[in-house]
Formats: sequence, structure tokens, C-alpha cells
Amino acid sequence: MLIIGSDHAGFDMKEKIKKMLDAKKIEYIDMSKNYAQGDDYTDVVAKICENMGEKDIAIMVCGTGIGSSIMANKFKGIRAAICYDEYTARLTRLDNNANMLCLGGRTVLAQDDEKLMSIIETFLNTDFSNEERHIRRLEKISEVEKRG
Ligand code: RB5
Repeated sequence: MLIIGSDHAGFDMKEKIKKMLDAKKIEYIDMSKNYAQGDDYTDVVAKICENMGEKDIAIMVCGTGIGSSIMANKFKGIRAAICYDEYTARLTRLDNNANMLCLGGRTVLAQDDEKLMSIIETFLNTDFSNEERHIRRLEKISEVEKRG
């Protein structure tokens, strides 16, 4: 399942993404349906992460994507990545098996709908490479996660 969410700073972009997903008949669950002035990205990220199963993918939009990715990466099994072009979206799926795409609703991406959708489609349509060297590196990340 695809789970999406935003804070107040990412709300407009998240709504735009919903329209794009609807047009492509891609189903999703929205974890922040209503605009809430001054809400904390940390709360929305926590809600998303706590609802994510092993095979789920999430898209989270805050002002920069940065706070959301920092918060999300504290959760076990979450690999969140800020992507700003198709290259970073493709590589973070192939190499890092990222399961959360973090976007910046107040960045230049807000002015380029075509690029925005292309980044999202690339992220959603690219699978983890399953290559030994990437599995090994992800295991090393999991080891740190276990240490806490
Ligand atoms: C909210 O003002 C802003 O700080 C937040 O959306 C995000 O950009 C944090 O990294």
C-alpha cells in the first residue's frame, strides 16, 4: 500500500500529488487529510511509520523534506530518502531499498509538476536491485538500528 502525508508546509504539494495519483488510478491512504496550521511534521511521520508494513511505500511532504527524513529514519525498518530528481529517486530504490520518499513542498520542486510526478513515478516503479553488495550495506545499517 502507498501511504502519503504532509505537514502544513507540504500540504499543497501533497494535495497536488493526490490529484496526480488519482489521475493515474494509483491507490493511497492519506494520513493527513486536513490542513492543520503549524502542525509538526514529526507527528505525521510517526503516524505514517507506525502504520507501515514491510512492503509498504510512503511519500511524506514537509517544507524541505529534511526534518521528515531525519524523523522517519529513527523508526525501525524505515529507509527514508529526500529525492530531488529522477536519478536520486531511482538510485535510492535500487541501492538503498528506500521505502519513504521525502519531498520539499517549499523547494523548487513546487514549481515543476512534471518533474514532481516523474520523481514519484520513478520511485514507485523502481525495485530494489537485490545485489549482494547493497544487501550487505543495508545489513550494516540494520546492525546500527539494533544497537539503538
Ligand atoms: C515547517 O515550518 C518546516 O520546518 C518543516 O516543514 C520542514 O521543512 C522541516 O524539515
